Amino acid sequence: MIQQQIGLIGLAVMGENLALNIERQGFSLAVYNRSREKTDAFTAKRAQGKNIQGTYSIADFVSAVERPRKILLMVQAGKPVDAVISQLQPLLEVGDTIIDGGNSLYEETARRSRDLEHAGLKYVGMGVSGGEIGALLGPSLMPGGNKTAYEELAPILTKIAAQVADGACVTYLGLEGAGHYVKMVHNGIEYGDMQLIAEVYDLLKHALGFDHQQLHDIFSQWNTTEELNSYLIEVTADIFQRIDPETHHPIVELISDAAEQKGTGRWTVMSALELGIYLPTITAAVEVRSLSAAKQERVETAKLLKTSIEPYDGDIPVLVNKIRDALYCSKICAYAQGMSLLKAASDRYSYAFNLSEIARIWKGGCIIRAKLLESIQTAYQQNPDLPNLLVAPEFKQAILDRQQAWREVVSVAAQVGIPTPALSASLHYFDGYRHDRSPQNLTQAQRDYFGAHTYERTDKPGVFHTEWTPIDAASLQTS
Ligand code: 6PG
Repeated sequence: MIQQQIGLIGLAVMGENLALNIERQGFSLAVYNRSREKTDAFTAKRAQGKNIQGTYSIADFVSAVERPRKILLMVQAGKPVDAVISQLQPLLEVGDTIIDGGNSLYEETARRSRDLEHAGLKYVGMGVSGGEIGALLGPSLMPGGNKTAYEELAPILTKIAAQVADGACVTYLGLEGAGHYVKMVHNGIEYGDMQLIAEVYDLLKHALGFDHQQLHDIFSQWNTTEELNSYLIEVTADIFQRIDPETHHPIVELISDAAEQKGTGRWTVMSALELGIYLPTITAAVEVRSLSAAKQERVETAKLLKTSIEPYDGDIPVLVNKIRDALYCSKICAYAQGMSLLKAASDRYSYAFNLSEIARIWKGGCIIRAKLLESIQTAYQQNPDLPNLLVAPEFKQAILDRQQAWREVVSVAAQVGIPTPALSASLHYFDGYRHDRSPQNLTQAQRDYFGAHTYERTDKPGVFHTEWTPIDAASLQTS
C-alpha cells in the first residue's frame, strides 16, 4: 500500500488550507476528520486530483502514513486535542511525532509533551498564524517541543511557511510549550493592535465625522508609511470599502459591536500577571472585549448616562496626523509589552527565546506582520538583552518626537467623551516605565501603617517599620 508522507487530522478551515499548502509544496498527505462528510466534501472538491488521501477511521489513517509518522492535529484547542491523542496513541509506534497546530494553552502542551515523550512519542506544539489565507499561501509557524522532531519536520515547515527576505517564517522556539507560548503572546499583541485601530476608527468617525471613503483613504495612506505599514492596517482599509449589497450600507456598520474571544488574549494577560509583567495595552484590549460583550447593559446605561459627543473644533488635518503618531507610539508599546513578556517567560520556563528570531518569523504570514518588526528584529539583534523596546535606538527617538501628539490625542478623546483605553494605557505604559520616582512609596507606608508589612528606605539599607499609631493601653482596657 502506498503511504503518505504526513497525516493531518481536522478538516475545518485551517486544516483544509494547511493540507492544500503542504500538498502544493510537494508532500503527500493522508487526512482524517471526525465526521466523514467533511472528508468526502474535501476530497471530492478542493483536494480532487491532488496527492491527498481521505481516510475514514483513525486506524486506516494511521496505517496510511509512512513511518516514523508525522501527524498534524488541526483540531479545536482543549479537550478535543486530548481526545484525538488518546485515540491515536495506542496505534502509534516509538519514534512517531504528533504536532498540535491549534491555539492550545502552553501549559497543556507541556503536559501532553511530557506524557507522550514518556511513552516514546515525540510531541511538537506549533502556533500557526495567518488565518485561512495564511494557512493556504504561507503562515507564520511557531513550533516548540521535541527538537529532533522539529529537525525532521523542518523540510516541510520551511517550505509551507511564509517567506520573507531573510528566510522562512518558522524557527524552533524551545522545549515543551514554547511554541504555543509565543503564539499566545502573538495573539495578545494582535488583540492590542486591533483595539488601538478600533479606537482610532472611533475617533476619526465620531469626533471628526469621517465617512467610510475617508476612513478607507486614511488607512490606505497610513499603510504606505514605514511606521504603520502592516497587515491589520491593510485589512482595516479594505473593510471600510465593503458595502452590503442588500442595504447599500458599509458592512462594518451593520456588524454587532459585541466582540468575541477564544481565550488566547486572556491567557496572555493571566501569564503576565503571574510573571509580574506590566501589560496595560493588551489588558485593556481583553477587558474591552468583555465590556463590548455586555451589549444589553451598555444599551440600558446609554439611556441614562449618555450625552452627545462634542464634535472636535480644532484643525482636523493636523489632528489626523497626531492620531497617526499616537497610533504608532501605542503600537510600539503593544509590541514592547509582548516582547517583555516573552523575555520574562524565557527566564521563568527556560525557553531560551531568541527575540530577534521571533520578530523575524512574525514579519510574514501572521496577523501582526508589520514593517516595524524589521526594527524590532534589528533592536534585539544588536542587543539580545535589551530590557525594553522603548529604550532601543530604533524606537526611543521616534517616541520622544511624537509624544506630544500622543498626549493631545488622548486628551482630545477624553474631552469629547470617546473611550480610548488602549491608546491611554499605552501612554501610561510609556510614562510609567520611564518614571524613576513612582508614588508607591506611599503604598508602602500604607501597608506598613495598617499591616506592619515593613518597608525599605531610600537613605539607608535595611528593613524598617514605623509605629504609626502607638496602641494606647487605656483604650485597650476599655474595649
Ligand atoms: C492567527 C489568529 C488566530 C486567532 C483568531 C481569533 O494568528 O491566525 O491569532 O489564531 O484564533 O485571531 O482569535 P479570537 O477569537 O480570540 O479573537
